[in-house]
Amino acid sequence: MDSVSKTDKFIFQTYQRQGKAFVKGEGVFLWDEDGKKYTDFLAGIAVCGLGHCHPKITEAICKQASTLVHVSNLFYTRPQADLAAQLCEKSFGDRVFFANSGAEANEAAIKLARRYFQKKGEKNRFKIITMLQSFHGRTMATLTATGQDKVKDGFYPLLEGFSYVPFNDFKALEKEIDETICAVMLEPVQGEGGIIPADAGYLAAVRELCTQKGILLIFDEIQCGMGRCGRLFAHQVYNITPDIMTLAKALGNGLPIGAMLATQEAALGFDFGSHATTFGGTPLATAAALEVLNIIGNDSFLSEVRQKGEYFKDQLLKLKEKHSRVVAVRGEGLLIGLEIDQDAAFFVRELMEKGFIINGIQDKVLRFAPPLIIEKTDIDKLVTALDNLF
Ligand SMILES: Cc1ncc(COP(=O)(O)O)c(C=O)c1O
Repeated sequence: MDSVSKTDKFIFQTYQRQGKAFVKGEGVFLWDEDGKKYTDFLAGIAVCGLGHCHPKITEAICKQASTLVHVSNLFYTRPQADLAAQLCEKSFGDRVFFANSGAEANEAAIKLARRYFQKKGEKNRFKIITMLQSFHGRTMATLTATGQDKVKDGFYPLLEGFSYVPFNDFKALEKEIDETICAVMLEPVQGEGGIIPADAGYLAAVRELCTQKGILLIFDEIQCGMGRCGRLFAHQVYNITPDIMTLAKALGNGLPIGAMLATQEAALGFDFGSHATTFGGTPLATAAALEVLNIIGNDSFLSEVRQKGEYFKDQLLKLKEKHSRVVAVRGEGLLIGLEIDQDAAFFVRELMEKGFIINGIQDKVLRFAPPLIIEKTDIDKLVTALDNLF
């Protein structure tokens, strides 16, 4: 039985897969079982920021795998300590909790925000405001936090204490604030919602409001962080810092790792025993992430991401001028959405035929989240292929 039939027979059919089994990856390229080569403009949905099998990451993984793969979090390890210190040094964060995925990092953030106020004796302050169209994960708390009904279908009753407001609408948020709110949680650039960047003025106003009211501000940077938007962290594009930030996806370049960072003050919410995980921050995952951070955190690397992102957006804007079926081009850095006036599935399928991998979100948006090491020539080839499809 081939991989496709075997998968379809034995694995839960929760993913609408695209009929290809991949066997090899190198840089921005993937190869399928038939030996066909593809340029990857999705990077595992913003995961492989450094592309596939980056030699330095492979070396870090191999070295660590032959030294020490796992010990319990009841003990200390060097890679975990180094990664936490580096993340704090490069951000507003004072403390890090390591998880294994984005949803787990967000789960930790939600728990921290609630417990911070419980510990302060503010027992009624447990509600979290999130944004419509947001996406925060698939665990019960994070799907409750998510502002999209389709993710919640069939899972009621949900967790208590969440409300939702339209993104980039400050008045709506302000109206929702009262003394029961412990946190506001948002993605600086909404990913699954259709690649929608926050307005700079909006984000600044949200920060100010949260500070004024003593509410914790949580940024979910699971998709938009780790260099994706042209700065190491997306909030650095806006010059605004949250109290809590979550990371995952590109942090391990494909190894499962998530992280929740918090200020010293917010971190007071957790004590011994408040939260834990068996695998979070294994020596293997943190050794890989440390190398990732080393490369992506470099200023000249990030400046190239910004240049390539601008170039990519410019090329797509030219398509918009040329084809009336292009509705909008949005994004930051190399997280770009092209909204069209028809179902994205046709373009995803046709581009795959032509050797390009992208995906469609919210039915009519084409998402481009290539490895950050993508070259302008690769961008040109994709844009030409796209041009020919209109
Ligand atoms: C913004 C955001 N938050 C959370 C998640 C959930 O991450 P994971 O799938 O690793 O649980 C995702 C995944 O797409 C995401 O894009």
